[in-house]
Order: sequence, then C-alpha cells, then structure tokens
Amino acid sequence: MAANDTTEAVVEAQGLTKVFSDFWMRRKAVAVDGIDLSIRRDEIFGLLGPNGSGKSTTIKMILGLLHRTRGRLAVFGRDPTDVEVKRRIGYLPEETYMYRYLSPTETLDFYGRLFGLARAVRKRRAEELLSMVGLSHAAHRPVGEFSKGMARRLGIAQALINDPELLILDEPTSGLDPLGTRQVKDLLLDLGRRGKTIILSSHQLDDVQDVCDRMVILYGGRVRSEGTVDELLEDSGRSVITVPHLDADAARRVERVLQETAHVQVERIASPRQRLEDLFMQIVERARAEKTETSGAQAGGPTAAFLRGEQPGEGGGLIRELVSEAAPQAPAPSGAPAQQPPARPEPARPAASPTPPPAAPRGGADVDRSVIDDLLGGGGGS
Ligand SMILES: Nc1ncnc2c1ncn2[C@@H]1O[C@H](COP(=O)(O)OP(=O)(O)OP(=O)(O)O)[C@@H](O)[C@H]1O
Ligand SMILES: [Mg+2]
Repeated sequence: MAANDTTEAVVEAQGLTKVFSDFWMRRKAVAVDGIDLSIRRDEIFGLLGPNGSGKSTTIKMILGLLHRTRGRLAVFGRDPTDVEVKRRIGYLPEETYMYRYLSPTETLDFYGRLFGLARAVRKRRAEELLSMVGLSHAAHRPVGEFSKGMARRLGIAQALINDPELLILDEPTSGLDPLGTRQVKDLLLDLGRRGKTIILSSHQLDDVQDVCDRMVILYGGRVRSEGTVDELLEDSGRSVITVPHLDADAARRVERVLQETAHVQVERIASPRQRLEDLFMQIVERARAEKTETSGAQAGGPTAAFLRGEQPGEGGGLIRELVSEAAPQAPAPSGAPAQQPPARPEPARPAASPTPPPAAPRGGADVDRSVIDDLLGGGGGS
C-alpha cells in the first residue's frame, strides 16, 4: 500500500499468540492469547492492562524482538522482522538501558549512527532533542549519574532520533515527575497531530485517557475491551452542568426547577477540586520563576524542529531532494517540495500548544527507498 495512504493499517494482527515455553518445550505462560489489533496511521493507540497482562510481549512482537507462537502480524504491511520496517520505528523500552559512561550527546550520536545519519544531522538532532526533553544543561554528564526520570527523558529523545513514523513507547511516563509527564503527553499529542502513529502502554490511566484516540484493555493476554476514549468512558446516563459558584439559596432554586421541569433529582452540587497535577505545575513554575537552582531535569523546550519538519534541507530531506533530482520517475507532488506529502486532515485532538506549527512532511512516499538505502550505505535498524 502507498506510504501516504491514511487508511493504511500500520499494525495488523489476527489471532496473535505468544506462549513462553521452557527448555523442554513445556508451556510456562500464555502471555498473549489470540488478540486482534488494527492500528491505523496517525493514531495514538493505548495498550492498557494490569501487570503481566501481555502489553510488553505484544510490543516486542510488533518490534520483531519476539517471535509469535501463532497468528498473523504485519507492520507497515510486512513481517515485523524486516529491516526496512525497523528503520521506520522508534522504541522506548520498559526499562531504560543506556551506556552509563556515555553522555546524552554521545548516546544520541551513537543511536544516530545506527540509523546511518550524517554527522551534522546527528549533532543538530541531538541538540534539539536534548533541549526538547529539558536535558541541555546535563548534555555532557555521564548517563550513569542520572536520576530515573532524567534517564527516561533521554530514552524518549533516543526513540525519536530517526524521526520515526511509528513510535512505540512502553510505559513512557514511568519515573517521570508530573511536569515531565505533562510534557510527554503534550509531545505525544503534538507528534500525533503531525502524522506519527504512536503505540503506548501505560499503567497511568490518566495518561492514556488524555492522549489516546483508541485503546485496548488487556487481561490475561486477551482483549477485554476496545474502543475510543469516549466510547469507553462516556457515562450516557448522567449530565454535568458547570456554572460559576452558586450560593445555597440559588442551588435550592436550581434543584426545584430541575425537579419541576425535567423531573430529575439533583444528586450532588459541589465545588470542583483543582487537579493535583495543576497545583504541582503551579508550584514548580513559581520556583522556576524565582530562579531556584536544580541539578535535575529542567523545563523542556518545544518539539524539536526536525520532528516538526522545519528543516527540509537536512538528513532524509536532503537525500530525498537529491534522489528526486536523480530520479525523474518519482516526481514531487505539484506545488510541494520533494519531501512534502499531500496535506492530510488534522485528527480531532485537544490542543497541546497554543500555536500548532505546520504539518510535518511524511518522508519517502514518492521516493524509491532503495536509492536512499544506497546513499545511506544500507545502515540502519533499531
Ligand atoms: N521471557 C519470558 N519468559 C517467560 N515468561 C514471560 C517472559 N516474558 C513475559 N513473560 C510472561 O508473560 C506474561 C505477560 O508479561 P508482559 O511482560 O507482557 O506483561 P505486561 O503487561 O507488560 O506487564 P507489566 O505491566 O508488569 O509490564 C507474564 O505472565 C510474564 O510472566
Ligand atoms: Mg510491561
């Protein structure tokens, strides 16, 4: 299927099953038990479930790190072990594994090399990503000294170094402070609006609720429930009316009116509480405004420019320009630069930033990938 086909299923699974067996092939655990999934391009998809319900095992099969026992699984229409598939994926594992003596800059450079990125591109992306996740000030400290949340932030930067089309995050907010959590959620919404497909697993139900378009809830390796956030969570049997503060007299009159006109009993009138997340943010913002010192993670910057597609001349963009010059059989869409895909409608999600930048290019739709591979020397794989 064409890479710019918005109806394309990025991940398609039918009857996907993983049984872990011991050395003598005796069945140890049925981790994933016949699940069906269809994750579409542009979607932010949540995998929910209690400990041991099969989330990480499902993710590892999608990544081609674990072989399935039964069932069908295609990623970008191909077998997940295909190297070409791995080039298009960014992955944040459940545990952050980093070389403790490397600095964040060296770590990102190392991963950039694995994807065959040119030195200048690696340098620029590393700087932008570290600023985005609030680690610029610690760019040269050894990662072994990092707090858990700082290492997690670096893991998220690492998962984005190849500007992946499909981002898979296993518990992305584990170990992050509320500020980091909020930032990751905003980042995911931003990336989702820019056409990335994102799969995330989480125990933090609020996180999934805030960012996911659709989700499955797993238990015992099986899908117990599936749907959009609204489908799963809307309580159609109740209505909420929000008004400025009512004094006791006004509240009594409203109750009477509702009883007389709609024949319903008011269940509860109360002042809503502020979310703890909002209070926490206010306190930290105040400390920052007072310039209180911290050696930990700082406020993250905006989404890295290369993820917003604002550097058309760099990296893959430059290669695509060269390729399209050399390959007249792969013309750019009229009126657009070589690396620009046709515009896609924005999915309806809450705004993460007040002024969303323009839609990002979705690379490679109109280009023969083998030419790119030749230029990159065939390097890559996640
Ligand atoms: N390498 C393995 N060998 C044997 N059993 C395994 C292995 N990996 C996972 N399992 C088993 O598969 C089941 C699902 O595990 P999985 O790690 O996928 O759960 P999870 O939903 O990611 O849980 P958590 O929320 O704790 O991360 C568990 O019973 C687990 O013990
Ligand atoms: Mg897990």
